[in-house]
Amino acid sequence: MYKTYKSNMNDEPTALVFFVNGKRVSIENPDPKVTLIQYLRRNLYLTGTKEACSQGACGACTVMLSYYNHHQKKIIHYSGNACLTLLCSLHGMSVTTVEGVGSTRNGLHPIQRNMMENHGIQCGFCTPGMVMTMYTLFRNNPEPSQANMERALEGNLCRCTGYRPILEAFKKSCPCGLGLCQQSAEEKKEIEDKKTDEKPTPDKYDTTQDVIFPSELQKSLEFSQKDAMFVGGGYKWLRPVSLNKLLDLRTKFPNSTIIMGSQTAIGSKIRNNTLPSPEIICCTQVLELRRIVEEKNGITVGSAVTFAQMEEYLRGNLKETKDRECNVASALLEGLRWIGADQLRNVATIGGHLMSVGQHDLQTFMLTVGAELNFISPKIKSKRVAYEKFMTNGVHAPDPSDILISVYIPLNKQNEYMMFTKQPSRRGMDWAVVNSGMYLRVNDKKDIEALRFCVGNIENKPCIIEQVSNIAKGRSLDEKLIPDACDVIIDQLKGCKADSLKYKISLACGFFYKLYKQISETIKPTNGKTDFGLTPSLSSGAQYYDVPNPEAKEIVWKPIPHAAGKSLASGEAIFIDDIPQYANELSMWFVTSTKAHAKIVSIDTSAALAMPGVVDYVDSRDIPGSKTFGPLVHDIPLFADKEVSYHGQPIGGVIAETREIARAAAKLVKVEYENLPTVFTIDEAIEKKSMIEYVANHTNGDVEKGLKEAEMTLEGVIETGAQEHMYLEPIAALVVPKIEDKEIEVFINTQEANGVQADVGQFLGIPYNRVNVRVKRIGGSFGGKALDTITASGVAAVAAWKVNRPVRLIYTRTHDVKTTCKRHPTKTFYKAGFSKDGRVTALSVDLYVNAGWNNGISMFVLELGMVAMESTFDIPNYKGTGRVCLTNLPSNGAFRGFGAPQGTFIIQSIMYDIAKQIGVPNDKLREMNTYKEGDKNIHGMVLKDFNLPVCWEDCKKQIKFDEISKEIDEFNSKNKYRKRGIAMSSAVMSIGYPMVFMCQAGALVNIYTDGSVLVSHGGIELGQGLFTKMIQVAATVLEIPVEKVYISETNTVTVPNATETGGSFVTDLNGGAVMNACQILKDRLQPLRDTMPEASWEQLIQAAYFSRISLSASGFYKSRGEGYDFQKQGEGQYCLYNSYGAACTVVEIDCLTGEHQILRADIVFDVGKSLNPAIDVGQIEGGYVQGTGLMTLEKVMFDKDSGEVTSYGPGNYKVPGIRNIPKEFNVTLLKEARGDNRPLYSSKGIGEPPLLLAAGVHLALREAVSAARKDQGLTNNYRLECPATPEKIRMGCAGPMVKKVR
Ligand SMILES: Cc1cc2nc3c(=O)[nH]c(=O)nc-3n(C[C@H](O)[C@H](O)[C@H](O)COP(=O)(O)OP(=O)(O)OC[C@H]3O[C@@H](n4cnc5c(N)ncnc54)[C@H](O)[C@@H]3O)c2cc1C
Ligand code: FES
Ligand code: FES
Repeated sequence: MYKTYKSNMNDEPTALVFFVNGKRVSIENPDPKVTLIQYLRRNLYLTGTKEACSQGACGACTVMLSYYNHHQKKIIHYSGNACLTLLCSLHGMSVTTVEGVGSTRNGLHPIQRNMMENHGIQCGFCTPGMVMTMYTLFRNNPEPSQANMERALEGNLCRCTGYRPILEAFKKSCPCGLGLCQQSAEEKKEIEDKKTDEKPTPDKYDTTQDVIFPSELQKSLEFSQKDAMFVGGGYKWLRPVSLNKLLDLRTKFPNSTIIMGSQTAIGSKIRNNTLPSPEIICCTQVLELRRIVEEKNGITVGSAVTFAQMEEYLRGNLKETKDRECNVASALLEGLRWIGADQLRNVATIGGHLMSVGQHDLQTFMLTVGAELNFISPKIKSKRVAYEKFMTNGVHAPDPSDILISVYIPLNKQNEYMMFTKQPSRRGMDWAVVNSGMYLRVNDKKDIEALRFCVGNIENKPCIIEQVSNIAKGRSLDEKLIPDACDVIIDQLKGCKADSLKYKISLACGFFYKLYKQISETIKPTNGKTDFGLTPSLSSGAQYYDVPNPEAKEIVWKPIPHAAGKSLASGEAIFIDDIPQYANELSMWFVTSTKAHAKIVSIDTSAALAMPGVVDYVDSRDIPGSKTFGPLVHDIPLFADKEVSYHGQPIGGVIAETREIARAAAKLVKVEYENLPTVFTIDEAIEKKSMIEYVANHTNGDVEKGLKEAEMTLEGVIETGAQEHMYLEPIAALVVPKIEDKEIEVFINTQEANGVQADVGQFLGIPYNRVNVRVKRIGGSFGGKALDTITASGVAAVAAWKVNRPVRLIYTRTHDVKTTCKRHPTKTFYKAGFSKDGRVTALSVDLYVNAGWNNGISMFVLELGMVAMESTFDIPNYKGTGRVCLTNLPSNGAFRGFGAPQGTFIIQSIMYDIAKQIGVPNDKLREMNTYKEGDKNIHGMVLKDFNLPVCWEDCKKQIKFDEISKEIDEFNSKNKYRKRGIAMSSAVMSIGYPMVFMCQAGALVNIYTDGSVLVSHGGIELGQGLFTKMIQVAATVLEIPVEKVYISETNTVTVPNATETGGSFVTDLNGGAVMNACQILKDRLQPLRDTMPEASWEQLIQAAYFSRISLSASGFYKSRGEGYDFQKQGEGQYCLYNSYGAACTVVEIDCLTGEHQILRADIVFDVGKSLNPAIDVGQIEGGYVQGTGLMTLEKVMFDKDSGEVTSYGPGNYKVPGIRNIPKEFNVTLLKEARGDNRPLYSSKGIGEPPLLLAAGVHLALREAVSAARKDQGLTNNYRLECPATPEKIRMGCAGPMVKKVR
């Protein structure tokens, strides 16, 4: 029996009905502003679905959406982003979240289990989204190929792993359950030949575990074939099912907003209440808009057809697709292929796309193909408009009341050809920098009858390059047209107003060349076709490390999976915003500066306070204790009160019943400013002498003399850019004040619980013993959740204190990116002296770092960066000077490597420049200058067990460096538009803080009477596998299985005064403390054990309890006695030991577009005797991939007037995705690594050093660009900027088009 829903939208509203994980949800007055993710998390308490960006650009919120297609009589499943999906669009749908896939109670799904067992989980914040993407793929296609998997994963970002283990995990979820389906024949044989007990256990995808699609939705036509109306939140959501009804509604509500149900573009206007009228007409169920009709000369595509449906239709039904190359269908498929990712293509519609304001890929396509748009409106019923005409008026319907019904796309006739292409900044889920389409018609003699070349994304609408059409007409189909066409393209576009115009024009010329050549070669086949674009390939990789005998009693050194892997894979793991709401909880939001540097003249909060739901406003006047904080000097105001120093600086905060009200009210606070002068760049800071007093000086020998006596000298400038952490979990705080004795509990995703405790205590003027800071885990950090979490916890604590109620503060991605620290940009001026054969004898370096508005920790980043610069090469005469520039940007801070990535890149680039100058092979020059075993570096460290040369040699051997170099030369000589480059890189990183007071840690180990062990320590689990390693240490010392040991969280009550988590030293420190506590317990139990040698662990513990032996012990560890004072260079002990690694990177570039791919990366790393090889390999892969982002893709942008950071999230700040990882990625942990001073089971710290190796990606790219330049006769040393974006690579490759554009 099924309920019949009232559906007469003229009368009564309908209830919104949908299913979540098989359970029916019915909402009487749904609010159209509410998104699916809000409802899942806050109403259904399904917090497995994570919100990381709210921009549809990271995939953390992926869910599976399903409906029953009554026409096709089948259930359709697709992946979608819950952050973009409006709840009202789900009427009659079924939603599956990660909780519906599997759980630790009822059993994990094989996909979840494989994620855990294959080490595809680090911080785990991306994991539920990854699982849902793959689950949906498998539901639709139980035997997906690796190409299918890689494509599906384009919509999911992971900032930790480097993707390789995630892909591995999914490959293992294939039909055979062994991962065999994705293996080569040899690999299959190898596994099949194994003895039965050695074979991996099949872990097949078992369909019986799937949530059953609700039969109500399958049987009832009510949802798809009846009109519906929802009334709530001040809106009317009208959902007609016929064109007539749609017209009626439009007549009745002429200002209504048309949406297509996917709302990827319009959703933000609905959420922000900025629609012209409260009526929203959702057209997804209007049958006439959902059809694709094949006509004689073309197809008519309904405006509600999604990109995914169009792709399916073109591939499956359209004969023309397979008929021949360069046709309209394949051009359209190419256009569709690279718009967003699957999650977007599954919901975005052709109508929404063409009617959206702004530049979109298919607009250029439609202009090229000569499409026509069919509109209806209450006034004219129906009209057809040529797309070209529509475009000339900008992107809007001829009349605001017009509704786009369909688009007519003419298909090729005989002798007609078409192609489309686009160049994004990042391949996979990125917008076009420029897109282009070409239509070409020839006559029977194969001469050009008509040619249309269109270019998009240069100005505010795509354009036809008219002159190309004019000069092409009647010409024969040969290459002579190309230079003439490029001239007119340049002529038409050169006056455009656009950023990177020269690059964009050279792209347009390149596209003309590429498309024209490909079409010509199809029409007039020659001997083989010109190869354009990068060599297609799929990802693979190998990991080499020693695994101890599984029977060995030590748990350390074994590659056991992440201790919380099951909870993370199932979405059960709790992050801050997953903590259930307190009954009296409030939310808060910031009022921030909109100026980079200004005096605050007045603040008016009246409008905000008058808003219903607003409870209070806080600012500096409400801070009972210290109003400032800071790592060295307390000079950072928690709230600015007189002056603001960067855009986004907190001025105050609104406290309200919900976060939406708080955010809306904060916008109503009026702040008046008086502008002050600004400084943004290092150059400006140098000019205006905007620097702190401190100057870092590192010297060795006599640099003046060295330079004077050198056979040759070279000067240069090297710059590195900022880098955004883009951890997936934004900063979040929940502060709970307790009335009794002024206690306060702070839940915060910080790396420095101790620092938060101290600062919150000082802000509130209460002793530290009343502040309990609790951190269960962090969804990625990389150094970014340090000082900025003091701000978050501080303002939330002041707010909670004032209203005496719990206050939650969850940063939006935009706020997080705009206001928090970044990696320091640097600028270096150097002068080097060297012999003709390459021995570097003198080097003088002036390094400037951009600190942002406050020194913060910048002088330490500077010092450590300089040390990294000086640690690899033996330069007898050296002088390094470093200065910290102050600018009006957010204060920069720690980021994985803490200055070392910049220092390493700088020195490696200098060495590269020298090698180029004298023509010595790059690798040889570096070998010649590298320190040797037993040398003393300029910080006084004797390089004992200097494993760098071993890593370097092993790496060269592994990749067969000489052989592959020759192959690359050969490849380059044969290919004009693709070039390859190869480079070795090395990393030396000091482990163990120079400030010796930081080299201490505590732990508390409790044994309970059932034998279970609870370990607490001061380190924080942020995805680096710390808890897993600590459990391994405890289990090894106590000689018990890992399952007996548990770590719940880190807090300041159990283990006080912990050093912050960072510097790749946290495992050593806390491991030492855990080891110490466990050893104390073991020693204490030993006399009893001697009396009962055969007793089980549980029996021993029971007996100990009854014998009144304390089963709790605290441990302590401090490493080395001596510290290091930067002002007394060379004295003291700078660190405990060094970590070493080497990498060889091979890249390929597309010389016409500047796009690149890493074909291969081989890394050999010295991690000592790895505590957990799987985790360490994960750190190496993840660090290297994050470094490739720094070197190539990631560009922080800011407005040059207001100082506002404009790269506001993954939508326009591109971190590496699945397509950007090395195609072949091989990692080896150095065998039998020599060395002492490694306190924890002979292991070494690993979190940061591998990132340094990515400098090699840049060097390899320089090699590839040099190869392209050589073809043009340009042999000078080209200084490729960092990051080496497609623009920089393309412009570096030069060539006739670039010459013309310049
Ligand atoms: C993460 C992400 C990545 C993206 N990447 C790309 C990319 O690489 N390339 C690219 O080109 N685009 C990209 N886009 C943009 C995307 O293509 C558009 O957001 C999408 O096509 C809009 O379609 P929709 O169905 O969601 O439209 P909606 O949001 O529903 O509507 C868009 C607009 O069109 C109006 N409208 C809709 N239908 C009609 C109609 N029938 N008649 C009149 N007006 C109508 C609506 O009122 C609204 O103003 C991306 C978007 C996101 C979120
Ligand atoms: S949170 Fe939805 S895509 Fe990022
Ligand atoms: S594990 Fe993927 S973002 Fe952390």
